[in-house]
Amino acid sequence: MSKRFQVTLLGATGITGRNAFDYLAKHAPTDLRWNIAGRSKEKLKMLLDRVEGAWNLPEITSADLSNQDSIEDLVKKTDVLIHLAGPYAQHGEFVIAKCIEHKTDYVDIGGETFFIRDMILKYHEAAKRQSVRIIPTAGYESLPFDMLTMLAVNKLNQEYQETCASVKIVTSFLRSGSIRDNRISGGSIGTMRNILDGDKIDAFNDMSCLLPNDCNRRAIRRRNKVKYESKYDQDVRAYTGPLQPAPFLNVPVILRSAYLRNNFGYSKKFKYSDSMTMEFYSSSENGQRKAAQKSAIINKLTSIILGGPKIFRSLITGRLDAMGIKPGDGPSEESLPFVDYTLKLFAVSEGGSKLTAKANAKGHPGYLSTAKIAAEAGLALCLDEILDDQQYGIVTPSIGLGAGFVNRLEQAGVNISFD
Ligand SMILES: NC(=O)c1ccc[n+]([C@@H]2O[C@H](COP(=O)([O-])OP(=O)(O)OC[C@H]3O[C@@H](n4cnc5c(N)ncnc54)[C@H](OP(=O)(O)O)[C@@H]3O)[C@@H](O)[C@H]2O)c1
Repeated sequence: MSKRFQVTLLGATGITGRNAFDYLAKHAPTDLRWNIAGRSKEKLKMLLDRVEGAWNLPEITSADLSNQDSIEDLVKKTDVLIHLAGPYAQHGEFVIAKCIEHKTDYVDIGGETFFIRDMILKYHEAAKRQSVRIIPTAGYESLPFDMLTMLAVNKLNQEYQETCASVKIVTSFLRSGSIRDNRISGGSIGTMRNILDGDKIDAFNDMSCLLPNDCNRRAIRRRNKVKYESKYDQDVRAYTGPLQPAPFLNVPVILRSAYLRNNFGYSKKFKYSDSMTMEFYSSSENGQRKAAQKSAIINKLTSIILGGPKIFRSLITGRLDAMGIKPGDGPSEESLPFVDYTLKLFAVSEGGSKLTAKANAKGHPGYLSTAKIAAEAGLALCLDEILDDQQYGIVTPSIGLGAGFVNRLEQAGVNISFD
């Protein structure tokens, strides 16, 4: 591939986009031909003032998702598109279709699984034919979870000649400083609204939603149903509740990774689950127990409402609207470096062997770590050799990027280790 730009960052002016811009400006190779794009040239120009010194600054292109010509022009002139101007369900299909047509590799951080399913059904085969990798969900959710699971499955398989029966990951958000800002971004609210408005297949409750119909989805769905429960988890010795903020996202992504690998290394009855400890919300054990219970109730209610008559959804939409969060709103930039997170993985093989692993990650999972991870994914797509463990199509992060991406993940501040 050798278009005018190697990498284009669309949505560079959003919360995640600004952090991805900073990261690329400081960490991309100095000879990278890159470009930032968005609907406001003024805002994009202001971004250039954020960096000092002789870093490799990008060119600027106007592109508005509601103007298809501008998007097609943008896609035509870049090898890789990092698309951070989510949410995605409204304008995302055109972007993906044009990336496939013009052989542009693509990465986004979306979580609208009903939309991703639709894209898989319509474009997976076309993307394979064109040898293009389209990788949604390449942020905190779901890239580190997907990679850690793949690495554990590989290790069980290669070192112990065992097939993986189940993986559980428990995550913890950790404060590393005194600045507190738990606000959620306008983009994340937009994603929730899109799910409420557009999820007509109940993907929120269907963990098999990213799989084709001919692979016994019903059994997979039953086995991997998210319980939305709070409990005391003996493995981590802490109260846990549903993963935040999107407990419905990692499960279908990881099940799709298993499917795309033809279940190689995974048991036919493979099960994946995740959860979260609560020390981010309370320092006392009792406070953590209550926080876990509250989170479980909110998520359970959301799942019932999304699975019920459509009119119920207006209850949540009303609550989201009452929060008054607009696109561009979100936690302060100063607060983002002061939240870290860990993932603890517990894998069990069909033969009963156990494997544990850990990922320690720096920076706010949603808006800082996600930005760095997506930026590294974009760099990998344009700079790294394609190896045998990678596939074309509408794929998951681990399948599009392969196990070698673990080195770039480390650059992005996510360090994986096995016990
Ligand atoms: N997977 C994960 O772990 C993860 C983590 C964080 C966020 N997310 C998702 O990432 C997405 C972005 O979140 P965010 O917090 O960064 O959102 P945000 O701060 O609201 O930024 C949205 C970006 O999209 C741009 N945009 C909006 N409409 C556009 C249009 N018509 N044409 C071109 N650009 C347009 C905005 O440009 P302007 O500046 O001009 O408005 C802005 O750059 C959301 O879907 C969110 O759910 C996922």
